[in-house]
Amino acid sequence: MASPDLPSTNHDTDHSTGHAPDRSVAEQLDAADVLAEWRERFVLRNPGLIYLDGNSLGMTPIATIDAMRRVIEEQWAGDLITSWWENDWLDLPLTIGNELASLLGAAEGTVAVHDSTTVGIFQLLNVALDLPAARGGPRPPVLAFAPSEFPTDRYAAEGVARLRNGAVRSGLDNLDGVGVVIRSMVDYRSAEICDVAAETKRANDAGAITVWDLSHAVGVLDLDLPALDVDLAVGCTYKFLNGGPGAPGFTYVAPHLHHDITQPIWGWFGQTDQFAMDNAFDPRPGIGRLLHGTPGILGLTAARSGIATTIEAGIGAIAAKAQAITQYGIAVADALGLTVASPRDAARRGGHVAIRHTDAVRIHRELEARGVIVDQRDPDILRLGMSPLTTRFVDVHDALLHLAELAEMTAGDGTTAS
Ligand SMILES: Cc1ncc(COP(=O)(O)O)c(C=O)c1O
Repeated sequence: MASPDLPSTNHDTDHSTGHAPDRSVAEQLDAADVLAEWRERFVLRNPGLIYLDGNSLGMTPIATIDAMRRVIEEQWAGDLITSWWENDWLDLPLTIGNELASLLGAAEGTVAVHDSTTVGIFQLLNVALDLPAARGGPRPPVLAFAPSEFPTDRYAAEGVARLRNGAVRSGLDNLDGVGVVIRSMVDYRSAEICDVAAETKRANDAGAITVWDLSHAVGVLDLDLPALDVDLAVGCTYKFLNGGPGAPGFTYVAPHLHHDITQPIWGWFGQTDQFAMDNAFDPRPGIGRLLHGTPGILGLTAARSGIATTIEAGIGAIAAKAQAITQYGIAVADALGLTVASPRDAARRGGHVAIRHTDAVRIHRELEARGVIVDQRDPDILRLGMSPLTTRFVDVHDALLHLAELAEMTAGDGTTAS
């Protein structure tokens, strides 16, 4: 996208220019934004609200309300139980998985949309542990994660270790003796993008297989999982994909593993002949064996609409705007003397910018009172999500001005000065 003179994001320690940033730069960037019109395709109940939380809960596509109404009125109310066959409800997790696959650079038949991300992590950690070790023999039931990993990933690994008489290792420096790694592609606090290909290889060389969590990557980065040699991945659809609160997550399994995998939750939706009734469990071929119970059709409908919105807007343009708008946010934060806790290299940064401040809790609360919605993550991070389809450059500018004003009310030691 065209880039009017951005304040530079250089690599010196003190980035502050001491100048209040010029709002007209943001206005020019919005005018040149090829995705600008997409904001109008979302519900904007309160035009004065500055919503920088699309990386936690994406906004509501207007098309989703229509899609939900259609599925409820025509399919549920109208076609009732025949919808399981007539309206593709039985296979909806796989149909939508095929649609989502294009955003992952993945082939059809490798993605299923179902359940929560946490359930998907639990399933794939077990799948990974049951895969034979590279050098033959059983894989050690040792699961590793970074100490800073998102809590649900750590908890799921601990739960799996407990069930399988295994152990967890907090720290990824030494992977000797590790069977499985669970790891986020984009760090939920700093937005730092991990070098997936290099880290997958490092784990493989140590004899471990990695389950990648793409929750903060999908819908904002232009992904190509096969090119990154990803074997197993999970993610959610309610952040940058705007799939709605509690929308189902997804699981990805690389084709070369399809026939080897055994997942721990056996149920009739994962069964080859679901309606034979008296047969023994015989998992269906391919990614379908990740399914287990009746899928939530309404949640899937909203997720499908969010995914379709992203596909239609184009993930290339979305990823480019994510880099540009986060770069702009960092430049403004620098100019205001705020402490940026996200990578300065755009290629290493996801779709949010973290600002570090000792008084983050108060600032978060007071921003909300001013109609500026951001996230706060302990201990001292304010997370500004810049969702390319809905966030304007002026939103970033205005939010950071509010934030800097509130931060100035705090002395350097974190106590409130005025
Ligand atoms: C990295 C990561 N993994 C998982 C989750 C959430 O998992 P679930 O969808 O099961 O609540 C989040 C939620 O923010 C997340 O940031």
